Amino acid sequence: MEYLHIDPERKLSVIDKNIYGNFSEHLGHCIYEGVYVGEDSDIPNVNGIRTDVVEALKALKLPVLRWPGGCFADEYHWKDGIGPKEERAKIVNTHWGGVTEDNSFGTHEFFELCRQVGCEPYVCGNVGSGTVREMSEWVEYMNCDSVSPMADLRRKNGHDEAFGVKYFGVGNESWGCGGMMTPEYYADEYRRYQTFCRRYGENRLFKIASGANSGDLHWTEVLMQKATRCMDGLSLHYYTVPYDWQKRGQATVFDKDSWYETLKKTLRMDSLLSEHEAIMDRYDPDKKVALVVDEWGTWYDVEPGTNPGFLYQQNTIRDALVAGINLNIFNQHSDRVRMANIAQLANVLQAVVLTEGPKLVLTPTYHVFKMYAGHQDATLLPSSVSTGCVGTEEAQVPKLHQSASLAADGSVTLTICNLSADDAEDVLVDCGGRAIASFSGEIVTGAMDAYNTFDAPENVVPQEFKDGVLKDGKLCISLPGPSVVALTLKLA
Ligand code: AHR
Repeated sequence: MEYLHIDPERKLSVIDKNIYGNFSEHLGHCIYEGVYVGEDSDIPNVNGIRTDVVEALKALKLPVLRWPGGCFADEYHWKDGIGPKEERAKIVNTHWGGVTEDNSFGTHEFFELCRQVGCEPYVCGNVGSGTVREMSEWVEYMNCDSVSPMADLRRKNGHDEAFGVKYFGVGNESWGCGGMMTPEYYADEYRRYQTFCRRYGENRLFKIASGANSGDLHWTEVLMQKATRCMDGLSLHYYTVPYDWQKRGQATVFDKDSWYETLKKTLRMDSLLSEHEAIMDRYDPDKKVALVVDEWGTWYDVEPGTNPGFLYQQNTIRDALVAGINLNIFNQHSDRVRMANIAQLANVLQAVVLTEGPKLVLTPTYHVFKMYAGHQDATLLPSSVSTGCVGTEEAQVPKLHQSASLAADGSVTLTICNLSADDAEDVLVDCGGRAIASFSGEIVTGAMDAYNTFDAPENVVPQEFKDGVLKDGKLCISLPGPSVVALTLKLA
């Protein structure tokens, strides 16, 4: 028996709902086929955007969506993607598979997608191969409501009102595919580019600087030193790659060594955040600048037979655990982490939905995001769990991983992952001086490599959680291994 303690009287930071964000890039079948099928498609759509995907994302309460990349963002010239579709430039997507990009999904279509889903758009601008003027004009096109060349162009293209983007990224991975810059050089470029990303009317942009690759603390140090005053957010990218890039293995065919190795790698997110936060705290003790983890998730080999440049991978219970653990970690760091965007939305890396023609599959990762939705905009509560370790000689991980928050209605959301590939764990949950009066919840569990297919889309779905008994105001639960559980606790 393990013991899980929650203190409902000590309120910590608010868990920004944007931690539950996603990322959509012009990569493989994320945008085209995954989201956008065009007005003439037989697949049900509204203005070219798949209705099934929109409904799934609404049910997920998706709060924010990043676009158009990723690496693609630093080669994207936004004017290629506006105006009559037949006149739009056809370009080569050099980063991702060398395929033709016909630009039929551009600025207007992205905002239409966000409108249908009801999420905030987060647009990433081009520093690597674009100009200051180009970026400045894009912001003007999206946000200016008065008479101006770009606002008039937008009106000519059929949208009278400004789109009103708030979240704006100034470059992506500027240390790598975004221009191979040094942090010193990028910090100067960031200062220059962001200067001309103007405020229109009441809409003050939330400007996000391109941040570090995983453990590159020097990048964060330099950016904070040189540009803290002109940024609202600094990003961080960290992917869960089992072993290393050469030996990461497949998404669905793996052994227990790989299971524990993957979870060990994903738990590194916790210490990474602490390391970057410690630097940010020195320059910004009031935590005004948000840490924005705008790319995270698993990265395996592509599915056999698929285009290596399309990054298409399946999604198993292992991914459900990766999602649950990372979301717990982000919740726990919510005093500084105020947005996160899993990579990616559809058909790419750790996707929440997979599509094949008219068919749609909700992945185990999707189900975890949905189960965790109670944390969105709730208040983090201190929680701790007594837990031993489990794993292999090389990869030991804690058996249990949790976070808890207080909702506006006074209920407590508790999410727990059992990381064991085999063993169930009994846990006694207590809320200090407050008795637990009732509980309800859901569980995702199954074999470690269970997944959903287009023929069997419900292999892995949340079930009602029933394995709990209330006694003397405490809750005794049994968590099968592996599993992700989300509970709502009503306190007396
Ligand atoms: O998400 C896939 C790619 O990973 C993104 O384009 C890039 O930013 C990162 O390296």
